[in-house]
Amino acid sequence: MCAALAAGAGFALPRSGWADPAGISVAEALDAARERPNTLAGRAARKNILFGTSLNHWDMEDAAYLAVIARESSILVPENALKANQYRASPDRFDFGPADKVIAFATENKLAARGHTLCWFNSIPPWVPKTITSPEGARQELLAEVTEPCRHFAGRMQSWDVVNEVVRPDDGLPLGLRQSYWLDKVGPDYIDLAFFAAHEADPSALLTLNEMDVEYDHPYFETKRVAVLALLKRLIANKVPIGAVGIQSHLQYVGLSKFPFTPSVFSRFLSDIADLGLKIIISELDVPDRNLPGDVPERDSIVAKSIGDLLFVAASHPAVIAIVTWAITDRYSWMQHDPIFHRKDGLASRGTLLDEQMIPKTAYWAAIQALDQARR
Ligand code: XIL
Repeated sequence: MCAALAAGAGFALPRSGWADPAGISVAEALDAARERPNTLAGRAARKNILFGTSLNHWDMEDAAYLAVIARESSILVPENALKANQYRASPDRFDFGPADKVIAFATENKLAARGHTLCWFNSIPPWVPKTITSPEGARQELLAEVTEPCRHFAGRMQSWDVVNEVVRPDDGLPLGLRQSYWLDKVGPDYIDLAFFAAHEADPSALLTLNEMDVEYDHPYFETKRVAVLALLKRLIANKVPIGAVGIQSHLQYVGLSKFPFTPSVFSRFLSDIADLGLKIIISELDVPDRNLPGDVPERDSIVAKSIGDLLFVAASHPAVIAIVTWAITDRYSWMQHDPIFHRKDGLASRGTLLDEQMIPKTAYWAAIQALDQARR
């Protein structure tokens, strides 16, 4: 499975495969999932794809929920515990206890693990921009926020989201980069710096650039795809140790004819990424349904179609190695409480695969069907 390419000075470039880390390796996680053929993970394993979910450490008291996750998954992602605003309350503190709990659960249940996210404009601890104002101070803080989590979990993460949502052409900045504290203080090379530091601290993890709004057949999304590809080419030219792209897949516009999903357009984008030697992870799949009709059968069928259509294309593509849903049940979906993404009519969100009682919905069966019918 492992084919690390030597490149640049003093690091290996895992771009034509990915290293099996210690802990639960990809092969072990897939083998374990094959013993559960009638589950999402089992069906995905038949195509050599990991399937899993995010999990919040504060929801781990619910034993029935953990049982569902252990059954249906082969990869697990701490949903919030590895964001700096969660583990780094003050300059002298790195609290990996909550993330340790999630990763230990993964290991005990033979699930691979994935780290999310080292560098995200939206999870910078509030004290950082208030107290660190010099470029060198910011650079040191960025290095700490990358190096400490990578070192702590070294050998146990199948992949790490090194940077999250760094492209935003609407901001009008060079390279289509998003306006952020890191860009402002460290400059555009903060992305390169984060990847090099992550690779040094955890050489076996597949290093990922995670992005949103690249899924639809619409000029806004096309502009984003072009900017993402340009950034990837620049990183590769600079011999940055990037191994994969995460495509978040919060399918919030499907069902509103404004943003259609065209399989050939999405598939072309996956191939453009694969042509650069990179793997692909569908990293945060769900359907924010705040603008969808309240009627449950109607809403459920839109959610199911959105998920099925995207998964069929993704699971058919040879570069896709993992599919992760952002919570596997409506009971614990972020969309129930997010200030922007919750429904304004007071109805519960139904944007994941299992309902609040953790019973499979149409979306679950659409996912199973997409995995079964995927051409690979
Ligand atoms: C979300 C979590 O699900 C919420 O619980 C939290 O309050 C905010 O972050 N894109 C990402 C994820 O990359 O990290 C976000 O997760 C959802 C959008």
